Amino acid sequence: MPAVVLVGAQWGDEGKGKATDLLGSRVEAVVKFNGGNNAGHTIVIDTERGRETFALHLLPSGILTPGCIPIIGNGVVVDLGVFFDEIDGLTARGVDTSKLVVSGSAHVITPYNRTLDKVTERFAGSRRIGTTGRGIGPTYADKMNRTGIRVQDLFDEHLLRARVTAAAEYKNQVLVKVYNRRALDVQAVIDELLGYAARLRPMVADTSLLIANMLDEGRTVVLEAAQATLLDVDHGTYPFVTSSNATAGGACTGSGVPPTRITGVIGVVKAYTTRVGEGPFPTELLDEQGDRLREAGAEFGTTTGRPRRCGWFDAVIGRYATRINGVTDYVLTKLDVLTGLEEIPVCVAYDIDGVLHEELPASQSQFARAVPIYETFPGWEEDMAKARSLDDLPHAARAYVAALEDMIHAPISAVGVGPGRDEIVTVRDLLG
Ligand code: GDP
Ligand code: IMO
Ligand code: MG
Repeated sequence: MPAVVLVGAQWGDEGKGKATDLLGSRVEAVVKFNGGNNAGHTIVIDTERGRETFALHLLPSGILTPGCIPIIGNGVVVDLGVFFDEIDGLTARGVDTSKLVVSGSAHVITPYNRTLDKVTERFAGSRRIGTTGRGIGPTYADKMNRTGIRVQDLFDEHLLRARVTAAAEYKNQVLVKVYNRRALDVQAVIDELLGYAARLRPMVADTSLLIANMLDEGRTVVLEAAQATLLDVDHGTYPFVTSSNATAGGACTGSGVPPTRITGVIGVVKAYTTRVGEGPFPTELLDEQGDRLREAGAEFGTTTGRPRRCGWFDAVIGRYATRINGVTDYVLTKLDVLTGLEEIPVCVAYDIDGVLHEELPASQSQFARAVPIYETFPGWEEDMAKARSLDDLPHAARAYVAALEDMIHAPISAVGVGPGRDEIVTVRDLLG
């Protein structure tokens, strides 16, 4: 099973980091194909020192698997300051980061992109997206506008100076004349970027060729998404999305692996729903039930610390994620968080202006008016942290998993029962 894509099925934070980590040492390389340090993946590992928690932002989750080659693909946007800080932080904790490879075609997040992200959000006021403020949107906008700075540009000083000067002079006009802000020092921007070049150079390679060679040798490569289906710029809840393709199609363009080499798509889906930032969320719970999910699931952002909005599982979204990504297997996470609820509602369809919708409406105006129609399932009381097979789960939990599987039209092959690496119920081999 050579090239396997791993995507989030909802609005992010489904547990993609843990799911990638789960695939472990049989994977030759983990390639991040979209996003940047807007992502936050928390991975909990039991070591001889006890339970350790790692929060990754930019580096692929495979970095925590000894022997695995972590690759930053061309589709990623890289904040080099964050990149080196993350490497240094992991190295200080004994993680081997020496195998890390970066695509020369990945775009670089510049200081003016970070500034513009924050300034435009503030300017938008109540119309803001609720971005992470990391410069992601402006950097992808520059990429599409063909004014972006790429990793490879750092190794051609003449080219870098010309490109940064042209871009920054324009951005400064916008900052000063539109937003009434101070202009950035163009020379300081160039110096900052050049300052990273020497350390970065040995990590840069033709990553699509490297991956193709691994696949030719029959090795398994995981293409790991940041963000998730409903945050995808094409298929998500536009405009309340991120600025990249977080769905399975993005894995091809963001890594250079052709569709014909992809043999499986793992979807990661939470047993309930969360969202960070603005935008429609039909099953959102604004009452104490939402607070309960937030507390029990520790639903606070890994990147910004913001409380995540919480709500019931939405099977309409699950079906949509299966269709858009071609999911072959699901990892259902955080089932344990639902323990102790008397009953568990699941959204099976929407009522939109009096009309029943079993599929996600293509119109965002309609989606914003979607009223969930719930089916309610019995809850369970028993602790499930030690469950390792479906038979170990309480009867009602098993019935909940089976019902979700039925509703989202793809098999659930693993079920998370706690944050730890081994806290997982295995139904089928995800790389089988
Ligand atoms: P990602 O962005 O998709 O990688 O997800 P995050 O790491 O942002 O958020 C998922 C959180 O849930 C992390 O803190 C994980 O440690 C935790 N987690 C993952 N799977 C499970 C699970 O099955 N049960 C519980 N209780 N926590 C989980
Ligand atoms: P992981 O990979 C949850 C959200 C932001 C905001 C919108 C746009 O951990 O699942 P951006 O800074 O990307 O321009 O913000 O997208 N967002 C995420 N929400 N998990 C993430 O990543 C996210 N990355 C971006 O909150 O609503
Ligand atoms: Mg996250």
